[in-house]
Amino acid sequence: MAFNPTHDIPPLTNKVILVTGGNEGLGKQTVLQLAQHSPANIYLAARNPSKAEAALKEIQAKAGANNCAPITLLSLDLSSLESVKKAADIIKTQESRLDILIANAGVMGALGTTQDGYEMQFGVNHMGHALLIQLLLPLMQQTAKIEGVKPGETRCVILASEAEKFAPKKVPYPFEKLRMTACGELGTFTRYGISKLANVHYAAQLAKRYPEAETGIRVVSVHPGGVVTNLGDLMKGWPRTQGIIRKIAAVALGLVPVEQGAWGQLWAATWPVGKNKTAGLGEPKSGVFYYPVGLEGKGTKMAYDEGLANELWEWTEKELESHYT
Ligand SMILES: NC(=O)c1ccc[n+]([C@@H]2O[C@H](COP(=O)([O-])OP(=O)(O)OC[C@H]3O[C@@H](n4cnc5c(N)ncnc54)[C@H](OP(=O)(O)O)[C@@H]3O)[C@@H](O)[C@H]2O)c1
Repeated sequence: MAFNPTHDIPPLTNKVILVTGGNEGLGKQTVLQLAQHSPANIYLAARNPSKAEAALKEIQAKAGANNCAPITLLSLDLSSLESVKKAADIIKTQESRLDILIANAGVMGALGTTQDGYEMQFGVNHMGHALLIQLLLPLMQQTAKIEGVKPGETRCVILASEAEKFAPKKVPYPFEKLRMTACGELGTFTRYGISKLANVHYAAQLAKRYPEAETGIRVVSVHPGGVVTNLGDLMKGWPRTQGIIRKIAAVALGLVPVEQGAWGQLWAATWPVGKNKTAGLGEPKSGVFYYPVGLEGKGTKMAYDEGLANELWEWTEKELESHYT
């Protein structure tokens, strides 16, 4: 379904937004679009300061000086729980509200372990984001109570992927292997799949354990489609094509440009509460895993397995609880 960021994103007046992985690909495109709809502030989180600066300049140039909301660069390396804590502390110190959190950053094909000993893809894509969300949830709950903020307007959007289908069918979460070095008998794509299944399950569990009816927060997970970004560059044997060859390969693979790829997360983060369906597109619902744009029920059986989701949640809680204070 078509989504038009220019017309479909409402004014984001007073809203404070955080986008992880905001310096590249889908994250950068998301910041660019949101910045043109008057939020109070957007935190562009990135692990590399010079890449963050370059992205900021590019976004400001594309949006136009008079049309670009304030953007604050935030240092965040999701492969370090210490860095996640520092980033969350900065937001909590500087802001009295956080309206939209887009857990967008991700790695595919990365080897090794995080600073805290998790398999790199699981550690960055799931564990780092899970801690970030947990640390910022109280601020988001506070935001949802602000006068004039409607229930469901405070959003947490987690980037998942159709690659959840590559998680092992028999034991989707081989936790003991996710705490060791990356290799073992799990292939790269299997490990990426596990991390993306965790993204789907974590969003569903957040929605269940922090119901919108009580907290005002709406949580969704999104598969953005196959999108032309740098994500595949780390995959072993991935053709390191550039320029026109890369574009031709992308079209052949049915990938969409990043401008379109960001529609799903922009829709999930900003579609107004109570707005009527437009061209078949309606409101996102809390706990749902969406394909682009706004399509439900496309995940695997594993994606909707509540027992598995619960297992992932319990395990994650035990791992992270010592970092909550
Ligand atoms: N592109 C697709 O077809 C596709 C399909 C399904 C799902 N997704 C999901 O969409 C999300 C965005 O991916 P993308 O396609 O935009 O990829 P991308 O262009 O490679 O961007 C990924 C972003 O994540 C950041 N990142 C990586 N490791 C990080 C870390 N340790 N700490 C903080 N930030 C880190 C990257 O920063 P650096 O620039 O410093 O590396 C970059 O800003 C990911 O979660 C991905 O799994 C993408």
